[in-house]
This record gives sequence, C-alpha cells and structure tokens, in this order.
Amino acid sequence: MSAPLIQVEDLHFSYGEQAPVFQGASFNLYSGERIALLGPNGSGKTSLLRLVMGLLKPDSGTIKLFGQSMSNEKDFRKYRGRAGLLFQDSDDQLFCPTVLEEVCFGPLNQGMKPEEAKAQARTVLKQLGIEALEERITWQLSGGQKRLVALASVLAMEPEVLLLDEPTNALDNPTRERLIQILLELPQAMICIAHDDEFHGQLATRSLRVEGGCLVDA
Ligand SMILES: Nc1ncnc2c1ncn2[C@@H]1O[C@H](COP(=O)(O)OP(=O)(O)OP(=O)(O)O)[C@@H](O)[C@H]1O
Ligand SMILES: [Mg+2]
Repeated sequence: MSAPLIQVEDLHFSYGEQAPVFQGASFNLYSGERIALLGPNGSGKTSLLRLVMGLLKPDSGTIKLFGQSMSNEKDFRKYRGRAGLLFQDSDDQLFCPTVLEEVCFGPLNQGMKPEEAKAQARTVLKQLGIEALEERITWQLSGGQKRLVALASVLAMEPEVLLLDEPTNALDNPTRERLIQILLELPQAMICIAHDDEFHGQLATRSLRVEGGCLVDA
C-alpha cells in the first residue's frame, strides 16, 4: 500500500482551559478511501478537520500531509492547497459577490488565466447542476444553494483530498442523492462528516467515530 495521504498520530488538543477534545487520536487516509467521520455533536469532528488543515494547532502529536510532517504554518501553507475543506457553515466559506466569482476565486488564486478559470468554474457548476446560479448574488442564495456553491468552490481547485464537513446539510432528498452520486464518481480520497447513516452506507469505504477523545473503527 502506498504512503497515506493524511496521517495523524497520537493527537492531543484542547481549546484553552476547556476539557480536551482529543487525547491520543490517530488515523490514516489512503488513496481511494472515503472515510465517514462519525460522533455526536461537540465530539470534535469539525475540530479534527481544522487540525488536519493547520487551522488549529495541536498540543502534541504528529500530522503528516502527503507524507510530509507539518510542524508549523509554513509547512501547512505549502501543502494545504492540495486538500480541499468544505466548511460546516457555508457562510464561513463564501465571500465573493457572485457565484461565478466565488467558484473562480480558487483557480485564479492557483494562477489559472481568467478565461480558463471561468471555464473550470462553469464545468463544476454544471457537474453539480447549479449552472443557472452563475450570476446570482452569493449572500442571497438559499441554504442548500449555498452548500452546493461552497462545494463547487472546493471542487474547482481540483484538490487531491476532500475534507467535507456535513456536505448534505440543508440539502433536500433528491439533491442529497445527486450529491452522493457525484461524490462516488470523484477520484479523490475523502473524509466526510454527516449525521446521516444512509449517506455513510452509500458513500463510505469505512467509518471512524470520535469517542473519548480518540478515533475508533465504527
Ligand atoms: N472556537 C472554539 N473555542 C472553544 N471551544 C470550541 C471552539 N470550537 C469548538 N469548540 C468546542 O470543542 C468541542 C468540539 O467541537 P466541534 O465543533 O469540533 O464538534 P463537532 O463534532 O464538529 O460537533 P457538531 O456535530 O455539532 O458539528 C465542543 O465541545 C465545542 O463546544
Ligand atoms: Mg461540526
């Protein structure tokens, strides 16, 4: 088996003086895997994705992205662009005035020419079935529409790994079904949080649960 894309070893983390969120959490994500991340509200699922992206700093433990040890912000800056994080709250993710600008932002930031970035954005919007939203004002969209636009903005950057924090949140049943099919067709390894057993049953190759500050097979 090739080296893990993401490797977390003996992770400890707390928010300031609060009770620890992680007390020795470990897992690997390999190419081809779609891991469902389970656990009750407040157990630390979102925090784990933020730690993996270097948006939170662990108290101790090892995080490796694409085989490289991440010890400071400089390391993360070099590698986090290869992983795409869908935030739990779309309003934390969306910041451009229109949908097309939003989805173009990542590719432009990666150095793509404006026309190519537009074409790339349009391809992803079509893939998600939301091409009609292209000219809409982002903040005026419905919750479900925002969810899909946020996902489009992540996919447009063609990350090697996807970290999806409740992607089905605010989606109706037909849209959720369509999203599952889209995710199943994507080549990327992913970690996906959702409070939805059916979603996990259809999508995941294995499941992990946050329990007592650790990650256990579910
Ligand atoms: N910025 C923060 N400052 C202090 N405590 C926080 C912060 N963010 C989260 N927490 C706390 O850390 C714990 C883990 O939160 P986290 O958001 O990771 O849980 P979660 O498993 O994603 O929950 P949910 O299913 O509700 O999204 C909770 O007790 C939460 O209150
Ligand atoms: Mg969460």
